[in-house]
Amino acid sequence: MLNSAYCPSNDFRSFLQIGLQERIFFVMAEDIKQQIEALRSEIRKHDRLYYVEAAPVISDQDYDALFAKLKQLEADHPELVTDDSPTQRVAGAPIEGFTNVTHALPMLSIDNTYNAAELRSFDERVAKALQGREYSYVVELKIDGLAISLRYQDGKLIQAATRGDGTTGDDVTTNIRTVKAIPLALTGTKIPQVLEVRGEVYMPKQSFARLNAQREESGDALFANPRNAAAGSLKLLDSKITAQRNLAFFAYSVGQTSQPLAETHYETLQTLKHLSLPVNPNTATAETIEQVIDICMDWADKKTALDYQIDGMVIKVDSHHQQSLLGSTGRAPRWCISYKFPAEQAETTVESIDVQVGKTGKLTPVANLKPVKLSGTIVKRASLHNFDEIERLEIHVGATVIIEKAGEIIPQVVKVKQKDIFAAPFEIPTQCPACGGHVKKDEEGICVRCLNPNCKAKFIEKLKYFVGRNQMDIENLGPAVLEQLVEKDIVKNFADIYKLDLFTVSSLDRMGTRSAENLLEGIEASKNRPLWRFIAALGINNVGGQSAEILADVFGSLPALMDAALEQLEAIDQIGPVMAKSIREYFDSDDNKSVIDQLLAAGVDPQGEVKEKGTALVGKTIVVTGTLENFTRQSIAQAIKDNGGKTSSSVSKKTDLVVAGQNAGSKLEKANKFGVVVITEQQFIDTIHPSG
Ligand code: IVH
Repeated sequence: MLNSAYCPSNDFRSFLQIGLQERIFFVMAEDIKQQIEALRSEIRKHDRLYYVEAAPVISDQDYDALFAKLKQLEADHPELVTDDSPTQRVAGAPIEGFTNVTHALPMLSIDNTYNAAELRSFDERVAKALQGREYSYVVELKIDGLAISLRYQDGKLIQAATRGDGTTGDDVTTNIRTVKAIPLALTGTKIPQVLEVRGEVYMPKQSFARLNAQREESGDALFANPRNAAAGSLKLLDSKITAQRNLAFFAYSVGQTSQPLAETHYETLQTLKHLSLPVNPNTATAETIEQVIDICMDWADKKTALDYQIDGMVIKVDSHHQQSLLGSTGRAPRWCISYKFPAEQAETTVESIDVQVGKTGKLTPVANLKPVKLSGTIVKRASLHNFDEIERLEIHVGATVIIEKAGEIIPQVVKVKQKDIFAAPFEIPTQCPACGGHVKKDEEGICVRCLNPNCKAKFIEKLKYFVGRNQMDIENLGPAVLEQLVEKDIVKNFADIYKLDLFTVSSLDRMGTRSAENLLEGIEASKNRPLWRFIAALGINNVGGQSAEILADVFGSLPALMDAALEQLEAIDQIGPVMAKSIREYFDSDDNKSVIDQLLAAGVDPQGEVKEKGTALVGKTIVVTGTLENFTRQSIAQAIKDNGGKTSSSVSKKTDLVVAGQNAGSKLEKANKFGVVVITEQQFIDTIHPSG
């Protein structure tokens, strides 16, 4: 989890490593419970150093080792697992929906200002209401995410809720627990009995870019900006997916508390920090409104350098007493104001609209723009997302448009400023612009796709993806060569790539013997890529790199995946019914099967088969109890995993199987009560090794 660790020196690092190990073993000599607690507080300390102080002192590996040790101890002693353990971030099955939470104190909004004059008027109102008292401000970044309320009881995170309408929000506790920057347990000496922390959950720009790239790869709709991506990720019913979204958090205020934390807002933030809650480091105090304005203007220039998006600044009267004198209007407090940065926009004209054909046949309109400078780059093209968007905004060739960078990243047309009255409206293609084949809107009614299985444009996109860096990674086989190979009918399916010879390749335009040899070498070198890359390269609808990894891990070999029944696929965590259906459809196609046969015959040998993995337990949640003869707790957990199953420490109605050894106790009773299938250790062995 830790990205890069700061370490003062190598000596110090090795001292720490030895120190850590020894500490773990010495401190823990007492008993297992103490060992577990010591490990947990060690991990919490490092979480705090990383997320709150931004000054980690151990490497990722050392951190992972601590975490693995704790996980192992907890697996061996499931009765000692507590909800606030750092290992307990991701819970079980997806939920049906969110329940409502009524906020103990309303979550107010903030009034906005857009220029220095409006900030000065705010200050005049404050000065007037405070009748000559001295006051000062805290100036914070306005993080562009979504507001969240975190409730800690005796230092343990017990509830997380969205702002909703300010009075009632959604209970998103399960998803929030996956956000590593949010402590499950507070640390420090003065932990209040009740503490409601408020802050912003956000998605760092890099994670946003990565997520959208993955979504593009798997043909999913892109998120327009990091805020939407963060909100979408918190509203997922499956917290395992939220866990992968890399959300982050900054605390910026306090709601209900059993005792006041401090007299000023600034000190409150420091106290939150001491309790292990991340507070934005760019928080400043200001004595006058002119200082506030300077800070705001400064950040308007510097904001692009941050690795998260901010849409303005928040200015707060520092003293809590003065805050209560100022009060609120019901909608927003009078002691707080935001300064919103002007959205960076540019005006340009649409010169033409291209329709691109993606690897799944999806048609995407793209506007070619008169080049214009926006937030430091020259923008020439803007994705129009889909045809509904063109219709909604009435975009057409010749229109003068306003563009903005969504999340300062993706250029986007936000509105048409002036229409070209002589221009014809944009027509949604009724046939594929590349092959002339039939097109159809998909079930959700947003994507239009080319239905022609032999569309060359679609196939070139598939090939580009197949040879891409994250898939088969074939060096020296760029788009221009691929286009020639397809246009000349030399490559008609993936397997044809592996049938290329020097004579054919050298005969291509602008291809010397040397380049041809390099190209063939690149192809040869790709034959033994790991199985997951091969699965990803096939371009199965909805299956991106991450899903391919899961499939490779569960099935271990291509034939096992190809034979997997729909129910088996659906039962895998993180593989939903839509993906399972796409996978089955892909491998049911005779054409696809024939191409795979040809690939294998041409010497492609995806590396995954070495790890002989079974599929006997795919999708099964299994609880092990009692004393076993042939396994340790760890080795049976590994055997379950190797056969596609998942271990759980407690029996519930959702448990599929209980393996009961000697002297099994309450878990066996519970299994019988819930009617869960119970098998012996020998039956378990027979299940995973049916041939003995
Ligand atoms: S204070 C009553 N501080 O901005 C004041 N809000 O537009 C409560 N926001 O709903 C909020 N950064 O989601 C505060 N440093 C910050 C903030 C911040 C982002 C969000 C918050 C709020 C919205 C209002």
